[in-house]
Parts: sequence; C-alpha cells; structure tokens
Amino acid sequence: MNRAPLIFLGVFFAFAFSFVGLVLTNQITYGGLSTHVDEGEGKAFPMQPSGLAAQGKRVYQDLGCVTCHTQQVRRAGFGSDMGEKSRAWGERQSVARDYLREERVLLGSMRIGPDLRNLTTRKNPDWDDFSADWLYRYLYDPKLVMTDSRMPRYAFLFETRPIVGEPSPKALKLSGSHGPEAGHEIVPTDRAEALVGYLLSLKDTYAYPETNNVYTPPAPEAGEQKEAGQ
Ligand code: HEC
Repeated sequence: MNRAPLIFLGVFFAFAFSFVGLVLTNQITYGGLSTHVDEGEGKAFPMQPSGLAAQGKRVYQDLGCVTCHTQQVRRAGFGSDMGEKSRAWGERQSVARDYLREERVLLGSMRIGPDLRNLTTRKNPDWDDFSADWLYRYLYDPKLVMTDSRMPRYAFLFETRPIVGEPSPKALKLSGSHGPEAGHEIVPTDRAEALVGYLLSLKDTYAYPETNNVYTPPAPEAGEQKEAGQ
C-alpha cells in the first residue's frame, strides 16, 4: 500500500499547526502593537530611552546581570511580585508594550536577585531610594551596603586615581579601610556611569489600556472599618 500521501499530509499538518501556533498567533497578538500616544501629555509611550540608558543596557548585557535578575513583574495573584505582603516589585504587571522599544528584551529567567524592571519606583525598607550614589557604592562592593550580600562585586567598573586639583564630585564616599589610599579617589568609569543611567531609567509606570491588572488593596471588611472609625 502506498502511504506516501498519508505521510505527506501528516508532515504538512504538523508544519501548518506549528506555524499557526508559534508564528501566526504571536504575530496577531503582538505584531500590531504600537506606541500609545497620550494626547494629554503629548508623548508616545513607551518613551525612547536616553542615549546614556541605551549604552548602559549594553553594559548590563555584557556583564550578564540578566543571569540573576529578571525584568518582568508578574500580575497579582500569579506569584508574589505584586500585592500586599509581596515583594512590591512594581505598581502594575509588565505588559508586552513595555518592551516595544527594546531590540533585545532582557526578561531573564532566574531570580537569584530581585526583579529590576521598576527599580527606581521602589522604596527599599532598608534605605531610602536607589540613588546614583547608592548604586555606585553597591556595584563597587555590595557588602558595603549589605553585609550578607550575595551579589558579585563590580569594582572593575571603577578607577582609582590620584586626586589632581579638586576631588571629583563623582568620587565614591568610602570611609576607613574601604577608602582609597591618601591622595587618591575612586571614580566610576564611563561604563559604570552608563550602567547606573540605565538602572535609573527602569520604571514602567504608564498605565496603558491593557494594564488593567493594577494591584489595589482589598477593601477593609465591614467590622474592620467600624473599628478604624472608632
Ligand atoms: C550572581 C548573581 C548576581 C549577578 C550576576 C548580579 N546580581 Fe544584582 N543582586 C544579586 C542578589 C542576590 C541581590 C540581592 C541583594 C544582595 O544579596 O545583595 C542583588 C541586588 C541587586 C540590586 C539591588 C536591588 C534591590 O532591590 O535591592 C541591584 C540594583 C542589582 N543587584 C544590580 C545588578 C547589576 C547592574 C548587575 C550586573 C552588573 C547585577 N546586579 C548582577 C545577585 C546578582
């Protein structure tokens, strides 16, 4: 019996189904995504990253930060990225449009460190804000900020040099044995500045129409409300 037509049909349908499932559905769902023009603000979101942030993203890629850090906040009720008693990694879930301007999306898959997608919108309970100064110190030596830190040092992103004239305003403020020898200062290199510029640019706060999964704390129950009013 000649089975060739059957084999041909089998192979054809296997390819056809894979094409529809892997290519067409994704194209239909995401292919038509465009920036969202906000008439009120007169801007298109997501906004184009600054030149410094774009350079810093390349440093982030080169150094493999994505091995330990994700950039994707999962929706409330799906993991504990958002919500009460959660890690509070973002005010809303990440959506496909957030990554529209990115040629290479660095979602990451391992969360050895915290998600960084909304770094600058977060408040850390142990310190106030993620300022440039804080990030420089942390990258230079995470143990300066957190004694039991598990994050690697990136001291090679800094340069120790003799102070010529006035000390640089960018020099790390390190004290005691952590500081450089007398007459010297430790300053961030261009790569460190770009990386920190990138980290400081990480915030997805704009509410697109599809970002309806914003965490809102549950309304207090009737009994609790009464107590609060007492
Ligand atoms: C080997 C894993 C690992 C790598 C690689 C790594 N980190 Fe981390 N990172 C961590 C861990 C773990 C933490 C959590 C705090 C700690 O242990 O210091 C952290 C914390 C951070 C924080 C503070 C975030 C917060 O919410 O407290 C920032 C910012 C950060 N990392 C940036 C980077 C950057 C930028 C790179 C690449 C240059 C990088 N990390 C590479 C593991 C890593």
